[in-house]
Amino acid sequence: MQLPSEPRITRYESTDSTSERAFAAIAGGSAKHGDVHWADFQTRGRGRLGRQWQAQGGEGLLFSIVLFPEPPGPKPTELTVATCLAVWDAVRELGLSEARLKWPNDVLVGDSKLCGILIETRGLDPERPHFVVGIGVNVGQAEFPRELTDERPVTSFRAQDVRVEAERVLELIWKKLRLRLRLAESGAPLFADYTRALKLEGEVVLKTASTEVRGELVAVDSEAGVRIRTSGGELVDTQLEFVRSLLRDE
Ligand code: BTN
Repeated sequence: MQLPSEPRITRYESTDSTSERAFAAIAGGSAKHGDVHWADFQTRGRGRLGRQWQAQGGEGLLFSIVLFPEPPGPKPTELTVATCLAVWDAVRELGLSEARLKWPNDVLVGDSKLCGILIETRGLDPERPHFVVGIGVNVGQAEFPRELTDERPVTSFRAQDVRVEAERVLELIWKKLRLRLRLAESGAPLFADYTRALKLEGEVVLKTASTEVRGELVAVDSEAGVRIRTSGGELVDTQLEFVRSLLRDE
């Protein structure tokens, strides 16, 4: 899937959710492949699993990209992996070399969340598949509200002593996403990079709705799913859609 070299950007001072704006443009017939909806504020920014995405005072980078891949289009997991890697590439190039991915699609520095990614589709039409890739990056926040930090540790470029403009972060994510999507199309092993980017050395614990597997992470793969070698040497594969969490065993 090729992205244009420059995105067509619609900028909002404030909106409900950039992903909602992207879906409205798709529903209204005005959306084009590669369109970006970018806002300084969101009143109803959303995250995975029905959570909210909060970013205060125009200090975060909040944007959504419309994708109309050629049918049949990539699998959502492939798109997720390519997007995560693109953001990871950009974040590291901007100076956060320690960044890592957290299953399925967070970017962390240490144990603190820097960026979240939400990939959605609505009423997928096989003749014209579409995706909205929503990305929230903490850029200039010096502090975070208590209700957010009570939930989990969070960080920003600024909190990591990296001064960068949101424009630059967007520009670089775009460039890296173009590259990663091109690589994905040419059959490059994205999942091997994704496995590395998780930085899950040592014991891990994988949870599904009903099971827990402990062991060493061997690979994440679109076909086999997550493969873990247990301490007894047994290889256990779990399909990606059943993985609830995959974390270091602490
Ligand atoms: C998550 O970590 O749960 C995913 C967060 C995704 C947030 C971004 S901000 C831009 C776009 N618009 C939204 O409403 N959500 C995504």
